[in-house]
Amino acid sequence: QEVHAAELERTFIAIKPDGVQRGLISEIVSRFERKGFKLVAIKLVVPSKEFAQKHYHDLKERPFFSGLCDFLSSGPVLAMVWEGEGVIKYGRKMIGATDPAKSEPGTIRGDLAVVVGRNIIHGSDGPETAKDEIALWFTPKELVSYTSNEEKWVY
Ligand code: PPS
Repeated sequence: QEVHAAELERTFIAIKPDGVQRGLISEIVSRFERKGFKLVAIKLVVPSKEFAQKHYHDLKERPFFSGLCDFLSSGPVLAMVWEGEGVIKYGRKMIGATDPAKSEPGTIRGDLAVVVGRNIIHGSDGPETAKDEIALWFTPKELVSYTSNEEKWVY
């Protein structure tokens, strides 16, 4: 009998300090759960500024880089790894456009956020970033592999 599920695509999703502070954790987690994606890692952390700089290293040259890193390290962040077919692209679709003023209703930012500097959630933008971000935020042991659609889970 197979114990571990075949490894599917994974993405890194973080609820930023504004989302945590506003009490949006359950709302956001539930959207990913209801879609059918599987949670494989989750933890609440207050990242240091240095850690935030590592996370956003691609944006070093941007004028908002320092402010963005200050913001990410300003309070608790809910770091997660979600798994499922197409989860990287579809996760971004569920999150909506970077600027909440441009994100469609029905998306997380479209429904719950107003300005770009406070857009409540981050999601990896591609397979390479997903891999890097998961490795930055989690140790391999923190990633839990399990099957949730087997008979033994139905009571
Ligand atoms: S860009 O311009 O295409 O690189 O933007 P994008 O890749 O969508 O965004 C990268 C992250 O930078 C954040 N961002 C900003 N923060 C503060 N102020 C401004 N003006 C701004 N523009 C973009 C944006 O929210 C992205 O962060 P994450 O955490 O990945 O959503």
